[in-house]
Amino acid sequence: MRHLLSIDDLDREGIERVLDRAASFAEVAGREIKKVPALRGRTVVNLFYEASTRTSSSFELAAKRLSADLVSIRAATSAVAKGESLKDTIATLTAYDPAAIVIRSPHAGAAKLVAGWSDAAVVNAGDGKHEHPTQALLDVFTLRQRLGSLDGVKIWIVGDVLHSRVARSDILAFTRMGANVTLSGPPTLIPRGIEALGCDVEPTLERLPEADVVYVLRMQHERMSEAYVPSLREYAMRYQIGLDRLRPEQLLMHPGPVNRGVELSGDAIDSPQALIGQQVEAGVVVRMAVLYELLAGAGAARVLPTRMEVAA
Ligand code: NCD
Repeated sequence: MRHLLSIDDLDREGIERVLDRAASFAEVAGREIKKVPALRGRTVVNLFYEASTRTSSSFELAAKRLSADLVSIRAATSAVAKGESLKDTIATLTAYDPAAIVIRSPHAGAAKLVAGWSDAAVVNAGDGKHEHPTQALLDVFTLRQRLGSLDGVKIWIVGDVLHSRVARSDILAFTRMGANVTLSGPPTLIPRGIEALGCDVEPTLERLPEADVVYVLRMQHERMSEAYVPSLREYAMRYQIGLDRLRPEQLLMHPGPVNRGVELSGDAIDSPQALIGQQVEAGVVVRMAVLYELLAGAGAARVLPTRMEVAA
């Protein structure tokens, strides 16, 4: 794997390899000293053109725990705010000879463009409504830890699928790992023809009790240019997931940030069946595994010098 732009860059075996590596990093995360020297002397650039708490902080921690040198750029405080184009920004950053560039952008396809402009391994940390592959990998990791395997597991993804890059990457990853995926939400928020990705669509929550896992999406107001639902109150009445709609055995997931009281009720967020905290925790070790796989794994573009070469 040269870049991670989409879940399509990984077959089932590739996903399993990254997740097994993440599990070995989870063991390191349990130690008092959480750092390994794997990427010593390599430079990782984080370039975030959109708001982020979880994804940016976990990529930063992941690079640091692998001993890489890290440059973190936020569009609001960089020359991007002065009008520099993405291409010129990448040309500037190339002067530092980064081994990896992690990019989040409001534009679908931005990560792919960067991969064409730079020699660095590129990780898509979310490109518009398109994909968010590391979120899907950490979601699979969290479920694998809990259930052992996703084969035959029934996963319902509920809410604003239309604007969700998480949904697109999750559908690809969950089905590749053997799960059955059903989408549910207001018809205006379910893209037409999405069944082609290998999932089912249910316009109501009537059959929600059949799910093993309920994965709830945020209402993504920042991507809505028109009214997709009559009102948030109406949406909440029909689709909000609360403990009243869940069986105690069903697992509950959400990528964060949560709009408390809109797509999820407070009691559900704070219940023991919610895996939201475990998903955040998985973010660091899964992103360590992705950076490791790209920069030091078997298929890495530039192989690390051996100990002897360094000494010579
Ligand atoms: C998601 C994103 O940015 O796409 N958040 C995340 O990365 N944890 C989902 C969202 O913003 O709703």
